[in-house]
Amino acid sequence: EPLFWGVDIGGTNIKMGLVDDTGETLAFERIATEESQGPQSAVDRMAQTIRKIEQKLQLSPAQIPRVGLGSPGSMDLPKGMLVEPPNLPSWWQFPIRDALRTAVDRPVSFINDANAAAYGEYWLGTGQQNDSMILLTLGTGVGGGIIVNGELVNGVNSFGSECGHILVNTAADAQLCVWGGGRGQLEAYASASAVVQRTRQRLTEGAESQLSGLLGGGNSELTAKKVYQAAEAGDALALEIIDETARWLGIGITTLVHTLDPGLVVLGGAMNFGGSASAVGRRFLEAVREEFRSRTFDNVYAGTRLDFASLGGAAGYLGAAGYARRQYHPHPIPT
Ligand code: BGC
Ligand code: NA
Repeated sequence: EPLFWGVDIGGTNIKMGLVDDTGETLAFERIATEESQGPQSAVDRMAQTIRKIEQKLQLSPAQIPRVGLGSPGSMDLPKGMLVEPPNLPSWWQFPIRDALRTAVDRPVSFINDANAAAYGEYWLGTGQQNDSMILLTLGTGVGGGIIVNGELVNGVNSFGSECGHILVNTAADAQLCVWGGGRGQLEAYASASAVVQRTRQRLTEGAESQLSGLLGGGNSELTAKKVYQAAEAGDALALEIIDETARWLGIGITTLVHTLDPGLVVLGGAMNFGGSASAVGRRFLEAVREEFRSRTFDNVYAGTRLDFASLGGAAGYLGAAGYARRQYHPHPIPT
């Protein structure tokens, strides 16, 4: 059976996994993105890692016929280019798909990072029993991945499934997108950057909180993780910020569910406030569900499931490999 490489590019790390036809990971390596070294350096280091592992496992390139590559948008899928990914400013307009194809001498399936993560959860995680689903990844930004009847929605302009950019607040003074651009988009309310920004704002206005010492920046910087830790310790401001984040997500999810009726919405990404293993994470998820329930039609959507993702940080590379596998063994044409 063929194997597939899955590569997941992030602002800090690039995760690379060698995955078999059943979704088992045979090798994994994480290399630094080193954004400032430029994209060709990263491509060269990815190719070195691939060669090194293939040699160690005594595999020939022919046994690994395709590579899946996930990257943050914006991107141009037909051209295989990064367009303007906010976290990778010196990589803009780089033809990454063909650079990697040349470096590893085999075809590369290029895809949005959150679409890859959605495909991973669909293939091997929370969405395994579902034909359709939506994944939201909560991190520095908010990513989205939509699968309808087994097909990822990549879009005509490579901007399908960009759920972080759906509007949740149309007020004139709605929050600006963290990267500039539109106002009132989900990412401006439910990303880790938004959580930090809103906490900082509240602290500046004088809110009482154990986080107030972190306003100065530097080593003791305010992060979404620190907001989560303060919430674990019962900090009222931190809990309020997390509840607000859940409500904005519930609003966005209502629109997505009313558009697609996917049956399942999964929350992934590093910002899950401890996930289902933590009381704060469970409260967060319950608050998202509650907001959705209060805005939707119970009779229609009572069976719609809203849950945490289950593959953690592996979803992206697993999904990229899964997508490469899918393009290698295309589904039979329906009759
Ligand atoms: C980008 C998406 C990406 C997400 C997570 C957003 O800012 O627009 O393409 O999926 O961040 O990386
Ligand atoms: Na996406």
